[in-house]
Amino acid sequence: MRQLLVVGNWKMNGSRASINSLLDGLLSGPAVAGTEVAVCPTYVHLPQVLALCAASAMTVGAQDCSHMQSGAYTGEVAPGMLAELGCRWVILGHSERRQYHGESDALVAAKVAVAIEAGLQPIVCVGETREQREAGEAQRVVSAQLKGALQGQASLNALVVAYEPVWAIGTGLTATPEQAQEMHECIRACLESIDGADAQATRLLYGGSVKADNAAQLFAQPDIDGALVGGAALQAADFKAIIAAAAA
Ligand code: 13P
Repeated sequence: MRQLLVVGNWKMNGSRASINSLLDGLLSGPAVAGTEVAVCPTYVHLPQVLALCAASAMTVGAQDCSHMQSGAYTGEVAPGMLAELGCRWVILGHSERRQYHGESDALVAAKVAVAIEAGLQPIVCVGETREQREAGEAQRVVSAQLKGALQGQASLNALVVAYEPVWAIGTGLTATPEQAQEMHECIRACLESIDGADAQATRLLYGGSVKADNAAQLFAQPDIDGALVGGAALQAADFKAIIAAAAA
């Protein structure tokens, strides 16, 4: 039985004040039993968020990390530094990193390796563009991204995969629960073929315009084990409604 996981990817948003008030809202009221919840702020806000979440069940992750553990990589942050700070997760291969920073599957694979070595749990993102879906290429593209990022890794026990169709991110368009389930089934089948991965134990999150009003239908699908939430994770009431849908 896979425990549902709901992760907020705050992207490049927030100030010290807005984060205080967001976490105040998120951490007030009883914690929802049975669902794991995590938030991923920017690097600079990690110490603040870790301190505010310390007494709660909410865990914390980063949105990226370096492909190296130390050295002359100006501007980069090593996974060991994130682990030492208290981070549990790191999002890797997000489509915004692929699109704006030219990240390749090979670079994502290198990041996955060092993240696992540092003791972090990678949340590896995959997803096709609208053009690729319309060309009937979605499953081929996503399987290739997954194999490219995971092949050759020694141990993938801590792995989480997030399916985020690029056309659904920040657009208000969501994959239908059936489209998402179909792809998640394909991802699980692909994981079966990758050495070191435990396909049945790996949690597969859906991401792309997840909101309070579509979350329950997505979570009802057998291969959807939670969500990676962008915009709706920035409002406490919206994020809490998604967490509640996971627990229902
Ligand atoms: P939105 O929920 O804003 O569409 O963002 C999804 C996402 O990219 C999460 O990583």
